[in-house]
Amino acid sequence: MAEPEQLVVEAERQAGAAATLDELSAVRTAMTGKRSPLVAARKALGALEPDARKQAGQALNAAKAAIDGILSTREAELSAAARAERLAAERLDLTEVTEQPASGHLHVITQTWQELEDVFAGMGYRVAEGPEIESEWYNFGALNFPLGHPARDMYDTLYVDYGEPGSTLLRTHTSPVQARVMENQAPPVYVVAPGRCFRQDTADATHMPVFHQIEGLVVDRDTSLGDLAGTIEAFTAAYFGPGFTSRLRPSYFPFTEPSAEFDIQRPDGTWLELGGCGMVHPNVLEACGIDPERWQGFAFGFGIDRLALIRFGIDDLRELWTNDLRFLRQF
Ligand code: DAH
Repeated sequence: MAEPEQLVVEAERQAGAAATLDELSAVRTAMTGKRSPLVAARKALGALEPDARKQAGQALNAAKAAIDGILSTREAELSAAARAERLAAERLDLTEVTEQPASGHLHVITQTWQELEDVFAGMGYRVAEGPEIESEWYNFGALNFPLGHPARDMYDTLYVDYGEPGSTLLRTHTSPVQARVMENQAPPVYVVAPGRCFRQDTADATHMPVFHQIEGLVVDRDTSLGDLAGTIEAFTAAYFGPGFTSRLRPSYFPFTEPSAEFDIQRPDGTWLELGGCGMVHPNVLEACGIDPERWQGFAFGFGIDRLALIRFGIDDLRELWTNDLRFLRQF
């Protein structure tokens, strides 16, 4: 019969050799199961004298407790190893996504557009918008361009094949938003309307068939040309900064009387033509349901793209559309 101490030593050896929980389970059966030497030794106790039986019984109990301890210690070791192995196998390498993809930024035109809105919002203007596909009436008629008037030829209009021939077009300027605002809002009116415009133009360094304008419209009591000049001047200083001034030069637009072009002067003394402006023509106020005897207004409009060119020192408008990231990233 195996000595209890030998059984413990054997259990220690076999448990140490078990490399997996399954192997350990087999060791457990072999060392403590029904057919184990331990159980056989227990059965054999009955044949012993009472004293010897007591002594041998205690020795067997101690051996059983020691073996149980060995098995559970080894089981804990093997479980921990199995868990570590599973974690290693299931590990996901997340290091690649912790590196954020480079984020882009707003296009130089969008930046300019938003800055302009901010400057005018700061001067108390609301932002309005109108459709890019426009009716002949809003683009021309309401703005005092009579049908067949030569001033319509100033605009290389793109017509849309919709409705009566010539009735629908891609707006050639943001001025139709003036008429839409006046129809929908009682004075006083202080709005700017930035937006996309279209003309049948060949692309070159200073022209694109698709471009952006921002329109300004004020309708209030006793509005004067002085208010217009002051507004242009205040805008020039707010947008371009100190050292920039503006001037008005007489011009002609059907929807303003008097009309002017406005230029800005850079700190180096050079002048740049920026846009058109004037006092809203009484015919336009009337066409939009506003009594010109009681209200006067001024309006202005200029190209956002040209402004961006000036602001950022870009010398070819086409660069803004080619989407070359090396170019766009500079702004
Ligand atoms: N709509 C004109 C253009 O595109 C620019 C313009 C001139 C707008 C005078 C105005 C204005 O509001 O009063 O050529």
